[in-house]
This record gives sequence, C-alpha cells and structure tokens, in this order.
Amino acid sequence: MTRFTVNGQPVHYRMDPETPLLWALRDASNLTGTKYGCGAGLCGACTVHLDGAAVRSCQVPIGSIEGSFVTTIEALSRDRSHPVQQAWVAESVPQCGYCQSGIIMAVAAMLEKNPNPSDADIDAEITNICRCGTYPRIRRAIRHAAR
Ligand code: FES
Repeated sequence: MTRFTVNGQPVHYRMDPETPLLWALRDASNLTGTKYGCGAGLCGACTVHLDGAAVRSCQVPIGSIEGSFVTTIEALSRDRSHPVQQAWVAESVPQCGYCQSGIIMAVAAMLEKNPNPSDADIDAEITNICRCGTYPRIRRAIRHAAR
C-alpha cells in the first residue's frame, strides 16, 4: 500500500507501486483534470506539483513518493481562481484546452520560485506541448500573471 497526500487528503492506494501517479490520480482518485498525452514524459499534459515542484506524473511511480504532498489542478487554489488561472481567462489562452491544466501547473510552479521570469527562463521551464499552438497567448498570460 502506498500512502501520500493528494490535495490535502491522505491517500492509500492499493495499486502496484510501479503504477504511474497519473493513473492513480485519474483512476483511483477521479482527479481527471490531470491529462494523459504521451505517457513518456514529453508533452507535460500530466503535470502536477510534487512537494511544490512541477513533475510529469506519468513518469512518477507511486511507490517512489511515499509521504509526499501532491497537488493537482483541482486544488491549485482553495477559494478563488489562482492568479495563473485568472491570467489564462484574461488572455483567452485555451483552444481545445486539453493540455492547459498541465501548462497552468507548470507555470504556477515556475512563478512560485521565479516571480518575474525572463523569456529565456520561460523557454527553459515551460516545455509543455500544445497541439493547438497557443504558445504566444501562454507567454502573454505568464506576463499577465507575473504583474
Ligand atoms: Fe506525461 Fe505526456 S502524458 S508527459
């Protein structure tokens, strides 16, 4: 049994310890805001926070994070929208929307440690893939959230 905390709640998953965190979140906890894209750590659709850092949950076996704290898009903000989510709305970022929760999680983690990122910082940190090509709006929204 693997125990850790998801969105402030203790979880005990009776699953193979090699199960990727992505599938434990989606299938056992019904937290479907975290998306499956590539399953190979490349696209970032599955990004969540693990002890405050952005990670690609398809690459994290649940057995490796005993005692850790996981946050998903569903709990990024407890009351009103997180400033990054507000910026996403203000700049009308999403097109199909599928990848956006992962990108928002990656951006929120970046701004937590670097509140005023340069273009180079953004390029280095935000490597998520958006098939609709919303990258210019993503960049505007990051600037908006960083204000
Ligand atoms: Fe995890 Fe693509 S689904 S990086």
